[in-house]
Amino acid sequence: MRKLLITGVAGFIGFHLAKKLIQTKKFKLFGIDNLNNYYSVSLKRERLKILKKIDKKKLFFFKKIDISNKKKIRELFVKNKFDIVVNLAAQAGVRHVIKHPDKYFENNIKGFYNILESSRRIKLKHLVSASTSSVYGINKQMPYDVNLPADHPTQFYAASKRSNEIMAHSYSHMFKLPVTLIRFFTAYGPWGRPDMALYIFVKSILENKSFKVFNYGNHSRDFTYVDDIVKGIILTIDKIPKTNKKWGLKKNNFSSSEAPYKILNLGNGKRIFLKNYIKLIEKILKKKAKIKLVSFQPGDLKDSLADIKDTQKYLNFRPKVKIEVGVKKFIEWYLNFTKKKHEIS
Ligand SMILES: NC(=O)c1ccc[n+]([C@@H]2O[C@H](COP(=O)([O-])OP(=O)(O)OC[C@H]3O[C@@H](n4cnc5c(N)ncnc54)[C@H](O)[C@@H]3O)[C@@H](O)[C@H]2O)c1
Repeated sequence: MRKLLITGVAGFIGFHLAKKLIQTKKFKLFGIDNLNNYYSVSLKRERLKILKKIDKKKLFFFKKIDISNKKKIRELFVKNKFDIVVNLAAQAGVRHVIKHPDKYFENNIKGFYNILESSRRIKLKHLVSASTSSVYGINKQMPYDVNLPADHPTQFYAASKRSNEIMAHSYSHMFKLPVTLIRFFTAYGPWGRPDMALYIFVKSILENKSFKVFNYGNHSRDFTYVDDIVKGIILTIDKIPKTNKKWGLKKNNFSSSEAPYKILNLGNGKRIFLKNYIKLIEKILKKKAKIKLVSFQPGDLKDSLADIKDTQKYLNFRPKVKIEVGVKKFIEWYLNFTKKKHEIS
């Protein structure tokens, strides 16, 4: 049975991925997380409890480890000789970075370096790592094509993730380490992050509190339901990039290399304006939001929309979940999780 490690397993995406992989019973699954307090640690622990509960075959092992601890990461890799690593551990958030850049350096750059170094030492078969739509930065060409350069980030979170992509290429080239970087586009769904828009909007509306909407509500996002994200990651796991001697840096192939290396966009491919997103939440909750329209926040992307043609071809990936269905699922989970009584449509 293949051994697979998920870093950041107590996080939103890590939890959903682990849940699905435990159910498939195809892997001996290891999960690590430092359980940091960027948001509710009890939410992270609740996610881990569910993973323990569904793991009837005892195929899932959790350890509290920080990826920025080089020694611990090396010991873990050498002891367990993983076949595949899905690296999701990172300091996320496009606004937190303004006041806390150190955390992004420590977790995302140093931490990722440790993952690369240990991966190549054990001759890992495939490293899959999380990147972000934020790398597109000031790029004006929409939808974001994965085969265009993405070298003008607007904040340090995006810079840390773009750095990961470049660091990974050097390891892939030098050590023939197969690496795939996945640029996620605004994941949402049950067990979602309390720092993200959907959670904040739903919580505020239910508690009759006002909330800020930046750029006067004119932002648009490509919201991707977490089950579609998980499906994309699982398809990626078995799609190990190969060396390609014929590759040349001609136009339109920035997402691949002569090294075993690939970058993918993982989005829904549909653009939703924030104003409409809020209207949809109001409709489901049957309740009006108290919105404070405020100006543009430095570092934010105005719009995001994934060009997923390359991903569709490469992985045979088709996102399935419509925004109306996904948002309703989140709200049902939220009401149940917070034990709030509220009728929805
Ligand atoms: N959710 C999204 O919309 C989205 C979009 C683009 C990219 N991403 C990226 O996807 C990955 C997963 O995102 P998420 O939404 O699940 O975030 P999350 O914050 O819920 O999950 C990350 C997990 O990693 C853990 N972690 C952080 N630093 C760590 C470290 N040094 N060592 C060990 N564990 C550590 C955290 O405790 C957390 O449980 C991240 O890399 C994030 O940057 C997410």
